[in-house]
Amino acid sequence: MRNKVLDKKICLLAKEYMQDHMKLDSSHDINHVYRVLFMAMDIAQYEIANAEIVYLAAILHDIGRRYESEQNRSHAAIGADMAYKFLINNEYDSKKSLWVSDCIRSHRHSDLIEPTTIEGKILFDADKLDFTGTMGISRTLMSMSKMNKPLYCVMDKSTRVGGHFFEYYDSVLRKVSEKMYTARAKEIANKRKEIADIFVSEMKNEINQCYTMEQLIESLFSS
Ligand SMILES: [Fe+2]
Ligand SMILES: [Fe+2]
Repeated sequence: MRNKVLDKKICLLAKEYMQDHMKLDSSHDINHVYRVLFMAMDIAQYEIANAEIVYLAAILHDIGRRYESEQNRSHAAIGADMAYKFLINNEYDSKKSLWVSDCIRSHRHSDLIEPTTIEGKILFDADKLDFTGTMGISRTLMSMSKMNKPLYCVMDKSTRVGGHFFEYYDSVLRKVSEKMYTARAKEIANKRKEIADIFVSEMKNEINQCYTMEQLIESLFSS
């Protein structure tokens, strides 16, 4: 980690600015921002990275989310522009403001903008870490429930738009670590995956146990 002394004033202002702009969204709330911040600082310890840029990028990374639907563009792009203006307005160095802004612009995997700096890669990985392990499962279930998506499809074999949780777990959540840049994030993600796999396997066991009763019901009908 480089630049271990953080500018306390701008960091506190950024924290207040983030609190004023966060969207009310249980899977992307202030707690998510703090988890990303703490994991980003953890990863930064293993890299030659500017700690202040990592801190500011992490604390401000999702401020654009609240304005996504009204502006009809990615929250990463909105947040990057907002963060740049906020930092410049608070007399933060213009080169460093752009550096923070670029990290935020590239933190979203689906925008297909690759982070070009180690600080951007750290933010990307810390944000993706919140989609791993039991936290990833919990946040996914919260998001899927808002979209009325099912946990699984056994009785109803018809293909449902967007699939169900178990399908999403196998196709997306189990593969999150493959997209990560830093060794430290991959290490944390792989440890979390072991626990998450056990949890999901237990869920499937419980569901299968319930469905064995289906055969008993069938036998009761025919007797
Ligand atoms: Fe985001
Ligand atoms: Fe995020």
